[in-house]
Amino acid sequence: MGKALEDVRILDFTHVQSGPTCTQLLAWFGADVIKVERAGAGDITREQLRDIPEADSLYFTMLNHNKRSITIDTKHPEGKLVLEELIQSCDVLVENFAPGALDRMGFTWERIQELNPRMIVASVKGFGPGPYEDCKVYENVAQCVGGAASTTGFDDGPPVVTGAQIGDSGTGLHLALGIVTALYQRKSTGRGQHVLAAMQDGVLNLCRVKLRDQQRLERTGVMKEYPQHPNGTFGEAVPRAGNASGGGQPGWILKCKGWETDPNAYIYFIAQAPVWAKICNVIGREEWTTDPNYATPAARLPHLKDIFAEVERWTMTKTKFEAMAILNKYDIPCGPILSMKEIAEEPSLRKTGTIVEVDHPVRGKYLTVGNPIKLSDSPTEVTRSPLLGEHTDEVMAELGYTADQIAHLRTVGAI
Ligand SMILES: CC(C)(COP(=O)(O)OP(=O)(O)OC[C@H]1O[C@@H](n2cnc3c(N)ncnc32)[C@H](O)[C@@H]1OP(=O)(O)O)[C@@H](O)C(=O)NCCC(=O)NCCS
Repeated sequence: MGKALEDVRILDFTHVQSGPTCTQLLAWFGADVIKVERAGAGDITREQLRDIPEADSLYFTMLNHNKRSITIDTKHPEGKLVLEELIQSCDVLVENFAPGALDRMGFTWERIQELNPRMIVASVKGFGPGPYEDCKVYENVAQCVGGAASTTGFDDGPPVVTGAQIGDSGTGLHLALGIVTALYQRKSTGRGQHVLAAMQDGVLNLCRVKLRDQQRLERTGVMKEYPQHPNGTFGEAVPRAGNASGGGQPGWILKCKGWETDPNAYIYFIAQAPVWAKICNVIGREEWTTDPNYATPAARLPHLKDIFAEVERWTMTKTKFEAMAILNKYDIPCGPILSMKEIAEEPSLRKTGTIVEVDHPVRGKYLTVGNPIKLSDSPTEVTRSPLLGEHTDEVMAELGYTADQIAHLRTVGAI
């Protein structure tokens, strides 16, 4: 079976997490991704958070599958010439350097267009145009400036960042969509274009419901599904809502059997309106189906805290999996809090290729997250990340360099 992007050639000038997430996805869809790294050092993550001496870190390997690696000193005059040839032979250049770095290297948008007018140049930056456009940005900075941190955590505590890498990996996903869209438009225009995904914008896009709530708050002064109602006060900005659901169905995280010793013995429970009677039956509070204080969704809003406390009395008598099995029988939406250990060992995720075991020549076998997007006509086969410069000779030969020329460029330090 073919691959969706098998004719697409990507010059992958990315590093750390946001850019590599994007190009890894494109590689999984079949694009030929050539990762350009600095000779001798490579992507800084190769050596960050190392768990095995001398082996590429999991940080690197888990973000750079299915790619080829070529080392070029792109500040060396002869290295620049190699990069120019790559620009001429690729469809997309993806980069996430600090603002201005590509220009300083001599590869401005105008220069790239001169070299290859069909080239799509895709960038991740911390901020879009504006007062902060020159700033360097990492994951948690993006979470803070995109609205995630101010709306995450509990009302009586400080802002909290989330473990989901919505700033880096989230923006990489946004960029990947921008790239395939630009490739699609190029079919009719014949032209490349610049694609920008700013991390602040990407996080804000994922926090869209909180901007919704900001406007609701300004209009009404209160949001009845938030835990602050009726137990506290609302200020001028959307408050942190603890574990409350972001939608119209109230939910909370409840303790399950074993919570005293197991930090993940919890379940997310949703008091969905259509199954209210079943919820009352399961927890033994049948009278709530007719009690005017509990019978309707609107009547329940001021009592959510008591309702969840009562459901928790029931969930604490069951393990999270027992509770889930019972609740699912009645179509009551819920989800156990799964630890990374449990997820890594989950057979169904192995079966679908969402968790994959990969073999690496230096580090041996390791687990990774495979392609979360499944295409029926373009299946993903996850292959290991490249060693630093593993494909330099191969790619140079494809560009037409002879063995002698390659040896010369190596001697002068251009590759
Ligand atoms: C992530 C980030 C903060 C890292 O900053 P950094 O480690 O200081 O790295 P920079 O991006 O500034 O650039 C690296 C330098 O290496 C140089 N470089 C990179 N590849 C090279 C190569 N193959 N050969 C020679 N030089 C190279 C660049 O030209 C740049 O040099 P300059 O500063 O003299 O112009 C920064 O790249 C950034 O803000 N990126 C955009 C936002 C982003 O993606 N953040 C999330 C990362 S997960």
